[in-house]
Amino acid sequence: MKAAITSFSIPSLLSKNELTDLLRSSGANERQLFARAAEIKRKFVGNKVYLRGLIELSNRCRKDCLYCGIRCSNKAVYRYSLSCETVMEAVRRAWQRGFGSVVFQSGEQTSDRFIREIEKMVRETKRISDGALAITLSCGEQREKTYRRWFENGADRYLLRIETASEALYKKLHPQDGKHSFSQRMKALEQLDKIGYQVGTGVMIGLPFQTPEMLADDLLFMKRIDIDMCGMGPYLEHPDTPLYAFRDQLLPPERRFNLGLKMVALLRLLMPDINIAATTALQALDLEGREKAIAVGANVIMPNITPPEERKAYLLYENKPLFAEDDEEELARWEQRLRAMGLQIGYHLPGNSTHYRPAQLRRGDR
Ligand code: 5AD
Repeated sequence: MKAAITSFSIPSLLSKNELTDLLRSSGANERQLFARAAEIKRKFVGNKVYLRGLIELSNRCRKDCLYCGIRCSNKAVYRYSLSCETVMEAVRRAWQRGFGSVVFQSGEQTSDRFIREIEKMVRETKRISDGALAITLSCGEQREKTYRRWFENGADRYLLRIETASEALYKKLHPQDGKHSFSQRMKALEQLDKIGYQVGTGVMIGLPFQTPEMLADDLLFMKRIDIDMCGMGPYLEHPDTPLYAFRDQLLPPERRFNLGLKMVALLRLLMPDINIAATTALQALDLEGREKAIAVGANVIMPNITPPEERKAYLLYENKPLFAEDDEEELARWEQRLRAMGLQIGYHLPGNSTHYRPAQLRRGDR
């Protein structure tokens, strides 16, 4: 444990052993980790928290991930796709309220129609905001030319979680049906980077069969591929999924939540200037989960601005918070809570990752 604490002086160099120790830590060591992460965060990303308006475009999905509530074989789900008009209404409202950025998230679909629809939403979002609203896409694995097409039409960032950097665990969590390939997912992250996107990834924390060593590898993976942004959160069981059968192996909610917080804090130490989201899954386990994540390293919040009817059908896991209150109320509450923490909302700011430099420029360095 001592070793881990001394490397706090150059936290970005934490080794796998040190990371594992810190993931297992409690008491004074854990408090020290959180305090150091808070300090690094203040120094590198300041006291602003950036807003992303999250729109869940569609819960139709071609994938069948064993943990996910909207997997294609779950027949109990009401499936929807928002029209471009509905999405643009939500975007316009977000823009008026001072959001600097929106996220279009969807189940994985690869039809020409889907590709065209996303392109249209991207173009329209840039048009109505005079190019000012930053756009993150989180629409699963696509062909390289699709990523490129969306990028050329104005998408700025792409979020594709690796879910776990352990290939063995990945294989346990996904069916072996030719549609769920670990190496393809890795390749996708490379392609996105090469095209010039700000690239985000993330993992689930506290999965069945997952060890602290694997989580340490997840952190080192994110550092090695040099991501610009991260969204990660605790795994939450969903009764209509095969992984539910392993629920008795899970850490109790409080410890799973705590592990999530430690992952956020450690990633902040390893990658001081990236954007880290305080995710909804953290809040599902602790009512103040997102605030706690912000206190130990996260600097992005993603209020859900999907119309309420469809929001109910985008249930990735059990007890997903639905935020029944209206968007305006939610923002007002965030403002209060953040002010009390000495933080401010970065209204109208795109909140780009200060870590980001386009691949084209980085190649020029070599
Ligand atoms: N628990 C937590 N996160 C989940 N996701 C999907 N299912 C679950 C679950 N049961 C996350 C995955 C996916 C993102 C859209 O939602 O990480 O990438």
